[in-house]
Amino acid sequence: MSKLKIPAYQNQSSGFETFDDCCIYPINETQSIIQTVDFFTPIVDDPYTFGQIAATNSLSDIYAMGGIPLFALNIVGFPSDKINLEVLSDILQGGIDKCESAKIKILGGHSIKDDVPKYGLAVTGLIDNDKIIRNNKAAINDDIILTKPIGSGIISTAIKREIADNKVHDEVIKIMNDLNDKASSIMKRYNVKACTDVTGFGLLGHLKEMCIGSKVSAKIFYNKIPLILNTEDFAKKDIIPGGTKSNFNYLKNNINFKNTIKSFQKFILSDSQTSGGLLISCNKSDSQILLKELNNSLDYKSAIIGEFIHQKDYSIYCE
Ligand code: CO
Ligand code: CO
Ligand code: CO
Repeated sequence: MSKLKIPAYQNQSSGFETFDDCCIYPINETQSIIQTVDFFTPIVDDPYTFGQIAATNSLSDIYAMGGIPLFALNIVGFPSDKINLEVLSDILQGGIDKCESAKIKILGGHSIKDDVPKYGLAVTGLIDNDKIIRNNKAAINDDIILTKPIGSGIISTAIKREIADNKVHDEVIKIMNDLNDKASSIMKRYNVKACTDVTGFGLLGHLKEMCIGSKVSAKIFYNKIPLILNTEDFAKKDIIPGGTKSNFNYLKNNINFKNTIKSFQKFILSDSQTSGGLLISCNKSDSQILLKELNNSLDYKSAIIGEFIHQKDYSIYCE
């Protein structure tokens, strides 16, 4: 991506340069359109649940910026010659129902014939210009809050290999299927300076983008990071998705791990997430109360996992 030639007039709208969650397009003095798009191949067996999770994941970028979603468009790839169209209808219904809980409609979309099913949404949102929460404004001394436990990549791999029990299965689906809308509306009431959502690049990958964009470093504590049930057990048995391993290889030179952190733990921190939580830079004066409110409203754990510090040799220090 860094080799692309981008014409200068595109500087009027931004987000691209710092890998922010949405692009921002000002429409008048006070408001901007924010736009995002996301789609992927099935991560669960049940088509309806897949549709719901894909929609939840697509909407997440709007919530990470503190915006309000307005409407969405479907993006569909489907092997209509190989799989019954009822499966597609279930996927789309999952998307429609999830958008209904986000109080928006899907107004159209586009589908193509494809060997592997793919589904997601392009979502358009609205935001006040003075309320945009970017990913590159993290501040030194701010606490780092994570609003969902991590490990969904590892757990999904364990489910595919049929070694995860029902309790783990239900837990990971509950987490991936929950909109970040509540977390977003709660965070907007506090002194929050930056936010992004944790998705494909994993906790370390998205935190690194925040650090580089904000010209700070981060110090995090492994033991404070909430994990989905059984994530450590599976990671110890090397049930690690390929994407998670490539995340780690791409990131490792930017991270200083204390020698007590074991290699399976490094993979967990790099684990590619689907529809993960928000990663928030919050002033220490507000972080405890924000955390308390998050944990009162969400039925999984949020936590303060560390803090932002002066920029040093590494982007992230993990102990
Ligand atoms: Co994002
Ligand atoms: Co995205
Ligand atoms: Co079309």
